[in-house]
Amino acid sequence: MAILSIPVTGESFSDAEKIRDFLRPFGIWYENWPTAGKGLKQASSDNEILSAYSEEIETLKLRASFVTADVINVNPDTEGLEAMLAKFSKEHTHSEDELRFCIEGRGIFHINPQSSAVFSIEMEAGDLINVPAGTRHWFNLCAEKSIRVIRLFEDSTGWTPHYLENGVDSQYETLCFSELKIKSDDVRTSVVKP
Ligand SMILES: [Fe+2]
Repeated sequence: MAILSIPVTGESFSDAEKIRDFLRPFGIWYENWPTAGKGLKQASSDNEILSAYSEEIETLKLRASFVTADVINVNPDTEGLEAMLAKFSKEHTHSEDELRFCIEGRGIFHINPQSSAVFSIEMEAGDLINVPAGTRHWFNLCAEKSIRVIRLFEDSTGWTPHYLENGVDSQYETLCFSELKIKSDDVRTSVVKP
């Protein structure tokens, strides 16, 4: 289940309905789909994953202007991982929506709505997030640096970032749940650097 955090206030919550309500004004979709019962294994191929979720993908294509889907699968052994992550982890926008459905692993989106405080959404298996076109955001992996997600694209040429290059992303540290030394109930958050 995802966790939404607002670093400047320290607020953090993981109730799905509360997360959806919070994200709605920003046009961000959040859903949690069951991942059990799909017959997928760690060794499943990208095509097997796309096939297992074909019905959901077709529904999403009708819901927005998505035309194509793929699977991205990264872990610490992935060649060029740091260079790849550096592209995601700088504040940017896209001309299209950015939809991610997490099959396994964990990652964290930071959203900079400009009209209000920066917030983060940590996603894990079963979490679906759609960041609308034009939304300022950046993305990191959690400490284990491993994630497998389905991506949907509105443009068949794929993922194109437009960087802001204003340094906002560098003001926030990425700390996922298991990386926080101080925990309380279901709370963990990203933090603002001093
Ligand atoms: Fe992005």
